Amino acid sequence: MASAYPIHLVLVGPPGAGKGTQAAMLESQLGLKQISSGDLFRENLKNHTELGQLAKIYIDRGDLVPDNVTIAMVEDRIQRPDCARGVIFDGFPRTLEQARALDEMLALQGSEIRVAPALVASDEVIIDRLTGRRVCRNCGAVYHVCYNAPKVDGVCDVCGGELCQRSDDLPETVRNRLYVYYKQTSPLIGYYYAKDLLIRVDADQPIETVKQAMLQAIGAVIGK
Ligand code: AP5
Ligand code: MG
Ligand code: ZN
Repeated sequence: MASAYPIHLVLVGPPGAGKGTQAAMLESQLGLKQISSGDLFRENLKNHTELGQLAKIYIDRGDLVPDNVTIAMVEDRIQRPDCARGVIFDGFPRTLEQARALDEMLALQGSEIRVAPALVASDEVIIDRLTGRRVCRNCGAVYHVCYNAPKVDGVCDVCGGELCQRSDDLPETVRNRLYVYYKQTSPLIGYYYAKDLLIRVDADQPIETVKQAMLQAIGAVIGK
């Protein structure tokens, strides 16, 4: 099986399934770059950019930021040299239009998506994970009060920054994010299945179990 770079992966899955957690681990394990559209929006928000102000309106409601804005942001980001070996797309694409746009922008670079792992998680698990999630205000590292607790309560293991709750992890917003996932994002499962790129991973398992399952499934495809 071919293993030539770049190796591009798309992580598909509902909010809270563990895309960010798994992408961060795969990044170091596979030497690829994690690109999270949600993190890019939050970075913009932190830096008070116009894009950040616009995205906030949608993020706070749990709705998707318009496709044209999101696609342009990701297209710009993947031009940077740190993406040359390949990208783990986390939270992008999230609509069929974004998926088609991604295929086109990669084709222009002479590359393509190699595999699309789908993290399959039940609604109860998702809600439990999102309500207990804590993120570092400084570096964005992700924790969970029960399942992935920091060494010192409220303090980031990586940088010592303060941990906080994401504003869109409030119960009402989480419900809308799930609804938006089923309505607008879940059709991607069929999109990647039809291209023979989909691999399903049971994401209801503990973090380490999911990681091993992901590595095994991805390795079988990319030949590592
Ligand atoms: P985004 O930031 O992408 O949020 P999301 O898709 O809702 O996903 P999350 O980040 O909430 O969950 P995750 O799957 O990464 O889980 P995590 O690893 O953190 O997007 C936010 C918003 O930005 C969107 O609502 C939208 O408005 C906008 N946006 C972003 N991308 C867009 C796009 N492409 N188009 C349009 N709009 C866009 O894990 C969750 C918790 O569970 C953590 O506490 C973690 O420690 C814990 N955990 C993880 N795995 C496990 C496990 N196996 N067992 C136990 N606990 C676990
Ligand atoms: Mg995430
Ligand atoms: Zn930190």
